[in-house]
Amino acid sequence: MHTVKHNGFFITLEGVEGAGKTTQIHLLAEALGENVIVTREPGGTQISEQIREIFLTAAEISAQTELMLIAASRAQHVSELILPALKDGKTVICDRFSDATIAYQGYRKGIDLKRIEQVNSIATQGLKPDVTFLLDLLPHVGLNRKRESDEPLTRLELETITSHEKVRKGYLALAKSESERVMIINAQLGIDEVSKILVSETKRRMQMKTQHRY
Ligand code: TMP
Repeated sequence: MHTVKHNGFFITLEGVEGAGKTTQIHLLAEALGENVIVTREPGGTQISEQIREIFLTAAEISAQTELMLIAASRAQHVSELILPALKDGKTVICDRFSDATIAYQGYRKGIDLKRIEQVNSIATQGLKPDVTFLLDLLPHVGLNRKRESDEPLTRLELETITSHEKVRKGYLALAKSESERVMIINAQLGIDEVSKILVSETKRRMQMKTQHRY
């Protein structure tokens, strides 16, 4: 499927639990100024946030149900919020997107990657991020960060370290296969250092995209 054409700029952040995505997204949005929309997955629209609640709190849930919930949340998010904003020339920063499904439902839960790609392509209508920042961290470091925060751990964060390692492995494999789009960043660097990389790389890629348009 072809990538959807739009005049905006679509940025996604990915990583294992506790990699610091939320902090970095706020810093990046601040640095980019106006015309920026910050959103997240699962979530981002009313329906998608309702699905997020079910997804994160379900006591018993099969891998296939996870995939379908995530896809339903994404389909609504893309059609209601992300695509209209991008077509309107806005910059959209999204906390996780389709790569998370490959890492979590694919590498961690074992669903065939081709199947995931098919489902993703329906949910995204073929939309791909202009750039994806993978905040890479050893899972136990991220989980310790989470445990130190006040937020209660979700069912996914409470899974075994082995399953978190599978997620990281999935993300790294993906970054290798799509090295042009996905940039790996060492999330153990300081907050300011990571932010500087994200801001300068985003600006560079935005400029490149604008130049290619003319
Ligand atoms: P968050 O904690 O980064 O907001 O993400 C919510 C959880 O949802 C996180 O544990 C990862 C999980 N998730 C998936 O399993 N598959 C997906 O496609 C997405 C977007 C998130």
